Amino acid sequence: MYTVSGAGPFSGEDVSFDAIIEDLANTGFSVIPGFFSSTWANALMEENLAIWEDGDFKKAAVGRGKRKKRRAEIRTDSIHWLTPRTRTPLQEIYWNRLEALREELNRSLFLGLFELEAHLARFSPGGYYKPHLDQHQKTSFRILSAITYLDEEWEEEDGGNLRLFTDRSAGVEGPFLDVFPEPGKLVLFLAADFWHEVRIARRPRHTITGWFRRREAPVPGVFG
Ligand code: OGA
Ligand code: MN
Repeated sequence: MYTVSGAGPFSGEDVSFDAIIEDLANTGFSVIPGFFSSTWANALMEENLAIWEDGDFKKAAVGRGKRKKRRAEIRTDSIHWLTPRTRTPLQEIYWNRLEALREELNRSLFLGLFELEAHLARFSPGGYYKPHLDQHQKTSFRILSAITYLDEEWEEEDGGNLRLFTDRSAGVEGPFLDVFPEPGKLVLFLAADFWHEVRIARRPRHTITGWFRRREAPVPGVFG
């Protein structure tokens, strides 16, 4: 069984990558409570609040390139991209763990995941993200979505659940799974296949949202 070594107090408690790989192979998605430890998630929450208070989040946009626009009727969250230059030690723990997962997914499922991109996200009370797919139109760079939840003591009445429509062909007309925030929980799903939304959150809601991507085409427009 493949388990994550070099655990320490900040990583998850011996979460096996095997179960994740099996889920992805069988269903195309996986929900993994405790992928990160609550110690790490709580510390990252504190850090996120400080970054938020410093004004280092910006309103998220929809689309890509020239078509990128702020669309509050679609999504209301604010984001902060992780970059090699600005990554904090806590963000580095996230990065390294997802990179280890990426390598294992490539070995086991031949997904050809080339790189990770990730941002912190914050929804203020009343916030939402309407049903969507995570692949930008006409591109296929984002292969797998990876959302890590941070908020503690979340109740169903707080809303803010991820609603993942689990039948790929039925989309938003089909059955769904509601996932509520929990410190250290990771959700993975194939970015092009699964419609999903964030239902209205009644308290501030914090995640790190990442995508494993295929290599960019050398010339824009080659893909799609
Ligand atoms: C996204 C998204 C889901 C969530 O940022 O694209 O769908 O649960 N997030 O935060
Ligand atoms: Mn999404």
